[in-house]
Amino acid sequence: MRQKIYVTREIPRTTIEALQAEHDVTVNSEDRALSPDELRRNVAGCAAIVSLLTDRIDGALLDAAGPNCRIVANYAVGTNNFDVASATDRGIALTNTPGVLDDATATHTIALMLAMARRIPEAERFLREGRWDGWKPMFFIGADVDRKILGIAGAGRIGRNVARKARAFDMKIIYSDVARNRDIEDETGAEFVNKDDLISRSDFLTLHMPLLPETRHYISAHELGRMKPTAILINASRGPIVDEKALVEALRAHRIWGAALDVFEDEPALAPGLTDLPNLVIVPHIASATEETRLQMGAIVSRNVLAVLSGRAPDACINWEAVAPRFTE
Ligand code: GLV
Ligand code: GLV
Repeated sequence: MRQKIYVTREIPRTTIEALQAEHDVTVNSEDRALSPDELRRNVAGCAAIVSLLTDRIDGALLDAAGPNCRIVANYAVGTNNFDVASATDRGIALTNTPGVLDDATATHTIALMLAMARRIPEAERFLREGRWDGWKPMFFIGADVDRKILGIAGAGRIGRNVARKARAFDMKIIYSDVARNRDIEDETGAEFVNKDDLISRSDFLTLHMPLLPETRHYISAHELGRMKPTAILINASRGPIVDEKALVEALRAHRIWGAALDVFEDEPALAPGLTDLPNLVIVPHIASATEETRLQMGAIVSRNVLAVLSGRAPDACINWEAVAPRFTE
């Protein structure tokens, strides 16, 4: 039976077409995130919602969708826009797109690390501004990454992938997580350390944990004060994991050498003073934005939705226990 699907914003054409082959699909064609009010109006009567990390999925939205709603499929690996308990209470499956964006996100993390270490955006701005008057020996001096200590906070799929790529630079990997992870140790020789050691020993510190109440402001003024003055902080996970105001202060006072950010605490707003800092590389939340990766994310979204609407288990479900009894194998 054809059912109603609402897609909160344009995503790859192939995904929409796969959904349209079996169901009636409405896509928000305006190129902006909708307000909670607009979303509530648009999802009424839908069996499935395809959401983005900019859409808050809570009880009010699910009630607006109504009793036929079976699944909310996030076009993202992160799931902090979901109020999981509300969906679980209503027997609605919440799905994401794990795995397919690990390489893109890890490569982007390495790109940010290199861009900051070698001051590439800053040097490029200088050149474009027509300010270059010739080769100079003490000019745009950066930092080596080779054989330096790379600290990884969060040794999940993306953190481990970054560690593997960083081995190409002979970096020494140290990591911390809620539990020890033998895979990262076996693959990269990574050393398990506590948070204090991670913060104080890293030359480059990169964050790869989910945003949870206990990871909010994992890096605050205290941690920034304990990092090496030569250290570089990289964040391509979720903005609120770093206290952005404290980071502005630390970079202004040169308490650390630099930072590279793909994500921000209150997107799309940036903390006051952030864009004035020369010792900072910033890009607008694009870690998974490659042609190949976005197509694969879309393919998972359509598989998840089509499976759940026909009573089969999705590829990836974050509240599995709550909805598993409904699915046949
Ligand atoms: C991007 O930030 C994602 O969670 O997929
Ligand atoms: C050296 O500073 C190390 O912590 O391995």
